[in-house]
Amino acid sequence: MSAVRRIIIDTDPGQDDAVAILLALASPELEVIGITAVAGNVPLALTQKNARMICELAGRPDVRVHAGAVRPLVRRLVTAEHVHGRTGLDGPQLPEPTMPLQEMHAVDFIVQTLLAEEPGTVTLCPLGPLTNIAAALNRAPEIAGRIKEIVLMGGGFFEGGNVTPAAEFNIYVDPHAAEIVFSSGVPIVMMPLDVTHKALTTAKRVAAFRALGTKVGIATAEMLEFFERFDEEKYGSDGGPLHDPCVIAYLVRPELFRGRHCNVAVETGSEITMGMTVIDWWGVTDRPKNATVMRDIDSDGFFALLTERLGRL
Ligand code: BDR
Ligand code: CA
Repeated sequence: MSAVRRIIIDTDPGQDDAVAILLALASPELEVIGITAVAGNVPLALTQKNARMICELAGRPDVRVHAGAVRPLVRRLVTAEHVHGRTGLDGPQLPEPTMPLQEMHAVDFIVQTLLAEEPGTVTLCPLGPLTNIAAALNRAPEIAGRIKEIVLMGGGFFEGGNVTPAAEFNIYVDPHAAEIVFSSGVPIVMMPLDVTHKALTTAKRVAAFRALGTKVGIATAEMLEFFERFDEEKYGSDGGPLHDPCVIAYLVRPELFRGRHCNVAVETGSEITMGMTVIDWWGVTDRPKNATVMRDIDSDGFFALLTERLGRL
């Protein structure tokens, strides 16, 4: 078996973030060295609390959770309670967390970890706006050369946007942070809406989570039933897109995904296309290739992996 991959999950839970965290904690191929919370789907006070609730649900109160940025680098915070509910984790009744929030700020944790660990051994997994990651790169630019890879959920091109016609939520909330990350020179794997819109929480797939009969399986089904109602209405689909777990699934089973190495540029100037990820899929510019952009997923394989792994918790 190849070496365990060490990851930091940067997140704004969010039901789909929660499932991503559960998948990571259930996967022996990964070691979660810390979780950093960022403002996004709901304000930071809730995302850091939700991250701890999910660690406890997974039976992992030992995981270090750090709180980070309360707002984007430049723009005002936009949240998504209309999708995720008032708490960000509406659906199941989960107990208030008792595990502590770490005192160290998330940005300090990211910088210190990357400076302390062997270069090329830590992967960053951003599942929300990229504020914490960009702030860390701004604070200590020398960490860029030490990050193994950034595997992130964000952006969209062929599918357009989900929060504006042009922009996906995570990039739209902090486009200036995204611009910093995409021009950092760090190897990036991007899971855009073009992939995640093919990973639908159909009734059958949610029933499989519930049928696990465990606390985690039932809570996952309850989270997804709440989460999917907004997108089902919007897209007229059976189920909603399960965005963030695609990042973790890629680390465990990269063969489930297909994509292409190309240039991604982020719009930060025009209000009408603010946060758009302009992907040079056809190589029509000479802009440098800065990301592997995924476009396809074996969605049955993805949900089979998720169900099997969540069943271990
Ligand atoms: C992304 O936005 C959030 O609402 C989800 O958690 C996901 O990270 C999808 O656009
Ligand atoms: Ca998220």
